[in-house]
Amino acid sequence: MTTPLRLGIAGLGTVGVGVVRIVRTHAALLQARTGRDIQITAVSARDQSRDRGINLSHYAWESDPVALAKRDDIDIYVELMGGADGPALDSVRAALETGKDVVTANKAMLAMHGHELAKLAEEKGRIIRFEAAVAGGIPVIKALNEGLAGNEITRVMGVMNGTCNYILTRMESAGLPYATVFQEANDLGYLEADPTLDVGGIDAGHKLALLSAIAFGTRPDFSGMELEGIERISIDDIRQAADMGYRIKLLGVAQRTGRGLEQRMQPCLVPMESPLGQLEGGTNMVVIEGDAVEQIVLRGPGAGQGPTASAVMGDVCDLARGFRMPTFGRPADMLDELPAAMSSLPAPYYLRMGLIDKPGALAKIAMILGNSGVSIDRMRQYSHSATSAPVLIVTHKTTRSALDEALAAMESTDVIASAPVALRIESV
Ligand code: HSE
Repeated sequence: MTTPLRLGIAGLGTVGVGVVRIVRTHAALLQARTGRDIQITAVSARDQSRDRGINLSHYAWESDPVALAKRDDIDIYVELMGGADGPALDSVRAALETGKDVVTANKAMLAMHGHELAKLAEEKGRIIRFEAAVAGGIPVIKALNEGLAGNEITRVMGVMNGTCNYILTRMESAGLPYATVFQEANDLGYLEADPTLDVGGIDAGHKLALLSAIAFGTRPDFSGMELEGIERISIDDIRQAADMGYRIKLLGVAQRTGRGLEQRMQPCLVPMESPLGQLEGGTNMVVIEGDAVEQIVLRGPGAGQGPTASAVMGDVCDLARGFRMPTFGRPADMLDELPAAMSSLPAPYYLRMGLIDKPGALAKIAMILGNSGVSIDRMRQYSHSATSAPVLIVTHKTTRSALDEALAAMESTDVIASAPVALRIESV
């Protein structure tokens, strides 16, 4: 007769309640699959009186998550509060210190403190699992750590923020401006409490930092990422991209190069007919390339109660089966500390700018691009009534540094009416 596996759950929002529901409704299934009776012993949240639509009276209540993490009647501390620091970090440290394994959905905490926590877990002989932190219900960490373990991973890409993908696809399908769709997303409850986390690319950047660590054997390095959000994408950008056969996606791309770890999370143009180009609404997609497997594409719901709780329970079940692995797939002291490398591979770029409509303005811009070695592939000026002329340029392949040099030179001219938007056209 095996002993039960006892969970302490901190955070009873959407995901926490989803986990409680699965533990209850699938008790027999979980027992059959893992050979252990998975039980909840104690829970913690800010407000005990809130009606969460489930009966929590069978569980001990702790108002302090650190106290929950330290209880000696739990085996796994399930952290679902969020936040890079504060109670989440304190309680995860406390859980590891007092001999508990940890399952968390907290991408921000692991992107910022992952290496330190991985070392602490190893010192204490404990495990941290975080499938729910990346791409919701898609088992992408499991795919990288297990199914693809025989590959050298060459590139990881993904659309990993459903809210941004919803905003971008809705702008296109309804022909609505960014501000209107942002408000819609807010009314639908899609946006994080701090919307910058979504639309500024930070949430997706945290996820990419975690995937990079596993894929390339490096310490999570969020601060080294090139990061740009979707706030400056206009409906005109979306229409013009579509005209040329592209869609705009908030795309993460990571690869290990001879110069260091390249990680970028930024809006890019991808071919409309590619799997990434076809991705609609709040769905996530992760593309992994390895030397043996070539390319795999994983697609699924990136958020929500069921999908995220599903990922949490996958981790709990692995621990119930006795499956133990270092946090980022290899011992913490074998994770390389690489310098951040800017993308050096040339790519075509899409540029959109407003020019003061006066003789010679366009010539000045073309000259600046030429002086930086940036060659123009296509160019359009749209009809307009105001004094600022909307101009769209698609370049031939160029490096980001050459383009940045040109963009800086444009700023010091007297012909720019609105700062240029520059988007990489990614080959996927
Ligand atoms: N806000 C995220 C998204 C889900 O929209 O995908 C949590 O990471």
